Amino acid sequence: MEKSSQLSTLLLLLTIVCGQCKKTHIEGNPFSICEHSNNQGRLWPLSGETENCSPLASTIDLARQFSIEDSSNVEMSDWLPRSSNVVCVDEFGAKGDGENDDTKAFKNAWRKACSSARAVFIVPHGKRYLVKPIKFSGPCKSAVTMQVSGTIIAPADPRVWDGLNRRQWLRFKEVDDLTVEGGGTFYGSGEQWWAESCKIKKTNPCRSAPTAITFELCNNLRMMNLTVENSQQMHIKLRRCVGVVADHLKVLAPGHSPNTDGIHLSASKDVVIRNTIIGTGDDCISIVSDSFNICTENITCGPGHGISIGSLGEGSAKAQVADVMVHGAFLENTTNGLRIKTWQGSSGFARRITFQNVQMQNVKHPIIIDQYYCDSKKPCLNKTSAVKVSDVAFLNIKGTSASKEVMRFACSQTVPCENIVLADIDLTATSGCTPTTYCENAMGCTTGSVSPRPCILNYNQTGIYELSMLVSTDRRKGKQEKKEYISHFQR
Ligand SMILES: *[C@@H]1O[C@H](CO)[C@@H](O)[C@H](O)[C@H]1NC(C)=O
Ligand SMILES: *[C@@H]1O[C@H](CO)[C@@H](O)[C@H](O)[C@H]1NC(C)=O
Ligand SMILES: *[C@@H]1O[C@H](CO)[C@@H](O)[C@H](O)[C@H]1NC(C)=O
Ligand SMILES: *[C@@H]1O[C@H](CO)[C@@H](O)[C@H](O)[C@H]1NC(C)=O
Ligand SMILES: *[C@@H]1O[C@H](CO)[C@@H](O)[C@H](O)[C@H]1NC(C)=O
Repeated sequence: MEKSSQLSTLLLLLTIVCGQCKKTHIEGNPFSICEHSNNQGRLWPLSGETENCSPLASTIDLARQFSIEDSSNVEMSDWLPRSSNVVCVDEFGAKGDGENDDTKAFKNAWRKACSSARAVFIVPHGKRYLVKPIKFSGPCKSAVTMQVSGTIIAPADPRVWDGLNRRQWLRFKEVDDLTVEGGGTFYGSGEQWWAESCKIKKTNPCRSAPTAITFELCNNLRMMNLTVENSQQMHIKLRRCVGVVADHLKVLAPGHSPNTDGIHLSASKDVVIRNTIIGTGDDCISIVSDSFNICTENITCGPGHGISIGSLGEGSAKAQVADVMVHGAFLENTTNGLRIKTWQGSSGFARRITFQNVQMQNVKHPIIIDQYYCDSKKPCLNKTSAVKVSDVAFLNIKGTSASKEVMRFACSQTVPCENIVLADIDLTATSGCTPTTYCENAMGCTTGSVSPRPCILNYNQTGIYELSMLVSTDRRKGKQEKKEYISHFQR
């Protein structure tokens, strides 16, 4: 729609002239991408404070670091609450003692906040609020700030979900212009769910378990300075959201906790995830179908399964993912590093995906494209159709692998991977073994110094593609910001 025409105007150009790729020349400071211009925020009045329920002055400071591209004070105040419609859960009867059921207080407080102009919904510092599955529904009257400074805890007993939707704990739906922040914690109490999971207790049927925080159809979402811990299953899910900035998050769960993805994106566009630490039992960040224009910067990941595009195309589905930039990541002890995984028999594409400036330590499969992904008890049969994987660049990837095979490109025979670009790679095996690479139907080129030498088929194509790179977004103002980063690969 109109978005796609915008794309062409905010391009990070990754211009690649493939072919024999003898020379590398990278212009500009690669770390400059995703940098944001500072903004002059306007302070909002802090009247109406109560002792435990005062909006943080830091709201402004943090928001100021964000990049809404304009520098006019007036517009900044558009999405920061100006008035002090402070809605504190304590005033609605929440006890915050970790035992009393505070669900009703949260529901009532949300109703008030959502129907007020520029409300600040406050979960005070130093308290623990036990909250059962709850839906925060919009649309709301205007932008809402949820300031979580205390801890919101989920009930530990899965039976609390009997008769309720087992897929969710806290769910935001159709809430536009939402900011969630405050330095607090969402604690999923997932231990019993993990013990009952079919991945842990093999005799149990595989059933769904809650995602700690789901944002669905939430446009122009800001989430920052929060911890999400020990979710029942996925920690944060973004579904059908456009214009998201997530900054300074911590997402934590033990490495053995099943399916506890950190941040999962589906059908979402224009998303920036930055300065975030994720250590869980599944993917740090997973990006699935119908997601476009996704930028991550400065992600620390581990334990877990790494950063993943996919899985795509399960059940012969059509999957589409394009314009993904993973810029600056540190991965430690993860089972995969940078991965694209697709099921056989599917269709669609995964293209214009760049992984750059990534440091790995003790990562089992540092670089992997797997078009034979099969996460099922029955083996998957070979099929001819597949999600087309093309225009994927791995640039400046360094570190150590826990296995010998440091790069794997297992591509479909009928739909081979095309234009895979490898530049400035140095991966060694922690075991001291000579590192190896595996390639099947993978075409592309290498440039700069690449060690070990990949087996990729040299692809004599003079291709140029443009990768649109968004670094921040404010949908309400129809604005997006980009930072120019240009790479040239020349013969
Ligand atoms: C996060 O919130 C806490 C608690 O309000 C505050 O002290 C801290 O400065 C914030 N951190 C960042 C990075 O803004
Ligand atoms: C990267 O993210 C970490 C974790 O949030 C933060 O402490 C650090 O300052 C960030 N680095 C930069 C360069 O912003
Ligand atoms: C990674 O594994 C090493 C060795 O087992 C351990 O010392 C280190 O703490 C682990 N790091 C993380 C982030 O889990
Ligand atoms: C499917 O194809 C892969 C890759 O070509 C091959 O390794 C594997 O043996 C095949 N599996 C079956 C069941 O034919
Ligand atoms: C690559 O393609 C160009 C243009 O078609 C041709 O001149 C050149 O010889 C080819 N190089 C190789 C190595 O095939």
